[in-house]
Amino acid sequence: MSARIIHLVDDENIIHDIFRRIFREPEYQLIVSENKSQAKSNHHPGVDVVIMDLMIPGTSGIEIFTMLKKDDPDIRCIFLTAYGTIESAIEAIKLGAVDYLQKPFNNVEIKHKIERILKERNMNKENIQLKKMLDQRFSFKNIIGKSPALDRVLSNVESVANTNSTVLITGDSGTGKELIAKAIYRNSNRRDKPFFSFNSSNIPPTLFESILFGYKKGAFTGAYADKKGIFEEAHTGTLFLDEIANLDNDTQTKILRVLQEKEIQPLGGNKTVKVDVRIIVATNVDLKEKVQTNEFREDLYYRLNIINIHLPPLKERKEDIPLLAEHFLQKYALENNKTIVGMDTKFMKCLMDYNWPGNIRELENAIIRSVLLSPSDMLTADLLPEEILGAGRREAKKGNFYERLDELKRELILEALRDNDNIQKNAARELGLKATTLSELMKRLNIK
Ligand SMILES: Nc1ncnc2c1ncn2[C@@H]1O[C@H](COP(=O)(O)OP(=O)(O)OP(=O)(O)O)[C@@H](O)[C@H]1O
Ligand SMILES: [Mg+2]
Repeated sequence: MSARIIHLVDDENIIHDIFRRIFREPEYQLIVSENKSQAKSNHHPGVDVVIMDLMIPGTSGIEIFTMLKKDDPDIRCIFLTAYGTIESAIEAIKLGAVDYLQKPFNNVEIKHKIERILKERNMNKENIQLKKMLDQRFSFKNIIGKSPALDRVLSNVESVANTNSTVLITGDSGTGKELIAKAIYRNSNRRDKPFFSFNSSNIPPTLFESILFGYKKGAFTGAYADKKGIFEEAHTGTLFLDEIANLDNDTQTKILRVLQEKEIQPLGGNKTVKVDVRIIVATNVDLKEKVQTNEFREDLYYRLNIINIHLPPLKERKEDIPLLAEHFLQKYALENNKTIVGMDTKFMKCLMDYNWPGNIRELENAIIRSVLLSPSDMLTADLLPEEILGAGRREAKKGNFYERLDELKRELILEALRDNDNIQKNAARELGLKATTLSELMKRLNIK
């Protein structure tokens, strides 16, 4: 990574020295300005963070900040305030500064604040880049991933979106079937027409037909007035039939008829109604198997399966995990007003090692939970549910025999040392080793 650029605006040499000591090259590049005109000529939009003294002779930090912000609207600034000028600091924050520090400050505090801002800025940059990349490749917002598997799915979506063809979306639970159905709709020439969704698993089977096809007044007890079905409501638009395998035989027959004749007949009516609806269906079961066991009509199956888009499980596209995790982190941190700048390596390792039976939905839930529970601005592995954390541990234990043996030896030695107040001679006795053997082992295992 290139050096992070810090612009210090302060007239005191002693402050310059402190900053030069903390922020050294090559990691950082420090620009120092002592007054307004220097600040103006030294500043440029590549600066990552500005540190601004509030009291600058002949002007004020706020005035300089306002001036710089005109040319660099994304400027991030921390104000340095002396005791008693806290009011001005608050004023500065209102104007768009990101933080302030009271003099005399300690080095750890300033370093921490700056690091945090740099991290956030970095993440924003990466995000903008990622978004650009996705926007260029496909116009599918909020579908995250760069695996070849997802690439194939998205290029299929691209090629079918603008046709009127029925699409069958298959994939395990939580793999993104509904998301893809909506993407097809949004990228189709029916995007300005209605989109309706019917999920058979949320509705009692006795209501399937009346909801889908509507009814006439008096068709059954309680039918006090005519009611249009979803097919009619979705006329000229798109209808997403989710969990299609749950439909009973009668409903299947009627849907087949809509597909063939492009018309429906409301319950209790004797007239048919022409409908023009684009159908997208989804299922997480093997429809072909259902055909073999006579639970699903074969003719309907062939009618639906003109174009099949299959979503592979997350464990077959693990390269998408970091991107998805980052996406959910940002989304839920923002929604819940939490500042979370990232995930530590162990957290990410657990995500990568786990098999995700609940796929992306399960990953999303794990991140939401971690974001909500996190006491700090970093997500750490202990926030993960036991089964995901356990996957990381099991994977770590898969090392080769000798590595694991060394690991065990190290644990035994550390324990004996702890028990014996770090007196090697006594620890050796407890372990039944010669003192020289123990010290050789410690050297080899790098125990200090
Ligand atoms: N590629 C992706 N990028 C971003 N979010 C995704 C992606 N895939 C899935 N999701 C999110 O994961 C969750 C589950 O997706 P969705 O509801 O589309 O899955 P599904 O296959 O319909 O699941 P189910 O079979 O359980 O109904 C949703 O919140 C969705 O937004
Ligand atoms: Mg679904």
